[in-house]
Amino acid sequence: MDSLVVPLLLFILFLVAIVILVVRRRGRAPYPPGPKGLPIIGNMSIMDQLTHRGLAKLANQYGGVFYLRMGFLHMVTISTPDAARQVLQLQDNIFSNRPATIAITYLTYHRADMAFAHYGPFWRQMRKLCVIKLFSRKRAESWQSVRDEVDRAVRTVMANSGKAVNVGEMVFCLTKNIIYRAAFGCSSQEGQDEFIGILQEFSKLFGAFNISDFVPCLGWVDPQGLTARLTKARAALDSFIDNIIDQHMEKKKLTHNNEQTDMVDELLAFYTTNSDHSNKLSQSDDLHNSIKLTKDNIKAIIMDVMFGGTETVASAIEWAMSELMRSPEDLKRVQQELADVVGLDRTVEESDFDNLTYLRCVLKETLRLHPPIPLLLHETAEDAVVSGYFIPKKARVMINAWAIGRDPNSWEEPDTFKPARFLKEGVPDFKGNNFEFIPFGSGRRSCPGMQLGLYALDLAVAHLLHCFTWELPDGMKPSEMDMSDVFGLTAPRASRLVAVPRKRVMCPL
Ligand code: HEM
Repeated sequence: MDSLVVPLLLFILFLVAIVILVVRRRGRAPYPPGPKGLPIIGNMSIMDQLTHRGLAKLANQYGGVFYLRMGFLHMVTISTPDAARQVLQLQDNIFSNRPATIAITYLTYHRADMAFAHYGPFWRQMRKLCVIKLFSRKRAESWQSVRDEVDRAVRTVMANSGKAVNVGEMVFCLTKNIIYRAAFGCSSQEGQDEFIGILQEFSKLFGAFNISDFVPCLGWVDPQGLTARLTKARAALDSFIDNIIDQHMEKKKLTHNNEQTDMVDELLAFYTTNSDHSNKLSQSDDLHNSIKLTKDNIKAIIMDVMFGGTETVASAIEWAMSELMRSPEDLKRVQQELADVVGLDRTVEESDFDNLTYLRCVLKETLRLHPPIPLLLHETAEDAVVSGYFIPKKARVMINAWAIGRDPNSWEEPDTFKPARFLKEGVPDFKGNNFEFIPFGSGRRSCPGMQLGLYALDLAVAHLLHCFTWELPDGMKPSEMDMSDVFGLTAPRASRLVAVPRKRVMCPL
């Protein structure tokens, strides 16, 4: 009889657990619909569909809010403007955390940056610091970097007039130079190649598949040698930026000059050697009293700026040029506008922007069809309900900005490039209040670099179109252009745009 007591007790405990689970689930909204998964691995067999296009297809089947389970990770995809509004506006206090893989956590010095910091007091102060000190219009040096580097790119194109130019590579080089110069204050090629190599390895590691992100108990399985690569990549960044920080400190000591000229100088004004300050703050309103940065914070913020500002702007410029090359009528119209507003005897200036209405429409239409960051990645801080469905705490929430910009319920002929649609009254705008069009996101985690990004985009496209005529190489017809994209941190063209420029303006370039 005694031998039955333990199994009986276990059985009763098991029954009680089942009853508690059933009672808890009864009162709860159901999980969103989604494809059936297998035990333990869940939906990991469709991992290759976690791109903006793959997820848009799944949304057609399962709806605007659908659910996937990847190993132990809950994932929810949002693909309609209404659900996006619930997540980014109505319940943004729950949905403003960021998910991070093991690689991202390690490479950002355990979320010592802004982009991957969870929502909370540390993120809020970091964001305040970045917005006021790095991205604000008052930091004239960043805006000057844009103008100088766009001028330099125009001269490079001019030197290749009549020849086939790889526009994709040229604009990537342009945005990389802008951000490098704004961050480190020098535009010399020296050091840049090393830094770009580090960035590329970071980018690969950010996207690398790591089984322990989905099944944590398999952390010891590392067939690709990721741990060694992560250690090596971070050590390379450490020595590169430590060197730059030391040079900046040395310069300050020698010149006793407190005039801050680049982003590293701005950040060093908040520097402390006390590592206890990392991710900690005091509640003072004065920025200098309330936040102190360690070297890790400075390195991680610089990486945010490099990743946030380089590929995004380059991809938008290349897509704008590509869509115009494929639509000669629109190219003609926007170049005619430039000739009328600016005239062919000078180059474009910032004061012209307000009068370049059609150019603005072209850029908006480009961001609608090709949002540079197609999936916005958020994480829930607690359990939530969206559109009547239950979303658990710590779920990864992917807002498909690409699918939302092409939603047939919001946009006529959603897949067609039609800049003139933005001439109509009441068309959604991208400032973040219209959830049909969110290339910069919306709400708390929306892009803090939007103004700087738009300035670089406006200036670069305006100059390239005003200074030159453009033709496709080797008699290629616009209809023959390959307009496919690839998925990564951003969604650039799969094949680089190549086109032949010829000088159009009368003034020297
Ligand atoms: C055309 C240009 C750009 C586009 C379309 C763009 C788009 C975005 C988007 C969609 C997000 C995420 C929003 C969300 O998660 O809800 C974001 C975040 C961010 N962007 Fe941009 N961006 C651009 C340019 C820039 C530039 C030039 C910089 C910096 C120099 C920058 C820095 C950042 C940072 C640091 C974040 C993270 C903010 C946070 O987590 O609080 N971006 N951007």
